[in-house]
Amino acid sequence: METKTVGVLGAGTMGHGIAQILIRSGYTVYLHDLSQEFLEAGASRIGKGLNRDVEKNRLTAEEREQALRRLKTTTRVSDLGGTDFIVEAVTENFEVKAGAIRAIEPYCRPEVIVASNTSSISITRLAATTGRPDRFVGLHFFNPVPVMKLVEVVPGLATSQETIEAAERLATSAGKTPVRVNDGPGFVSNRLLMPMINEAVYCLMESVADAKGIDDVMKLGMNHPMGPLELADLIGLDVCLDIMKVLYEGFRDSKYRPCPLLEKMVAAGRLGRKTKRGFYEYPK
Ligand code: 3HC
Repeated sequence: METKTVGVLGAGTMGHGIAQILIRSGYTVYLHDLSQEFLEAGASRIGKGLNRDVEKNRLTAEEREQALRRLKTTTRVSDLGGTDFIVEAVTENFEVKAGAIRAIEPYCRPEVIVASNTSSISITRLAATTGRPDRFVGLHFFNPVPVMKLVEVVPGLATSQETIEAAERLATSAGKTPVRVNDGPGFVSNRLLMPMINEAVYCLMESVADAKGIDDVMKLGMNHPMGPLELADLIGLDVCLDIMKVLYEGFRDSKYRPCPLLEKMVAAGRLGRKTKRGFYEYPK
């Protein structure tokens, strides 16, 4: 089946970015979120992202308008019923994701593929809560979605070959490079990235260096575009903590123990850029 329309569940950081690259690539996107306010915020970020493309001469003003006309926003999950492919990008929590997928499933045609943008939760476990484990797959995008090339394509135990290939086609047609990765806690990306970020938080907690010092070491010594603490602020400290918990519980290995300072920052609501304060402060 050819994919022309895509339903995206969640208009947050990842959902709006995914919707943006898809409308830009010619897909009609039905973007769903629970409130009009979330949808307006997501649509506004998409508009600004496409403006940036026009300013950089990567898109004409007319192409931007056409892309925006392909974006439909809705608070009614039933409006996604006619779409050919669903990408779930709601909060990184098993119950929330499973609930969102359960809500859309009754409206999906049997052949429709449902993909989860989870950053660490088991695809096999999520798939088992659906009536379509063979048509369920992980499609893990990276932040900022319009910039980062990678998409991890994660088959669960029951995912069919056709589903994997359709997911890879969608990622490629949206300008991304899919890399197939098996279903293990954190996949490859977050199994490597999050322990590094967590260890950076330990360095800060133990006063090995201050935040800027830790970030400078990784930027200047390792050529990382951002230091681990800056990156944690970009990703969201709550997301980093959730992923560390998935690794800790998934491997039952103390080397993945979340740093107490990370837990404390999340408890204090210092979640990074989105709350204007994390390891750094951001102007309001
Ligand atoms: N949205 C869209 N585009 C953005 C953007 C955003 N939020 N931020 C930056 N960009 C674009 C800019 O427009 C610019 O593109 P252009 O030069 O073609 O116009 C380009 O990115 C570079 O931007 P800047 O010059 O302003 O800034 P930098 O050179 O410092 O780059 C960065 C910013 C691309 C964010 C870079 O610092 C970077 O690559 N950081 C690492 C990001 C990363 O590791 N992401 C993965 C996080 S892990 C994840 O998402 C997985 C999840 O499961 C946790």
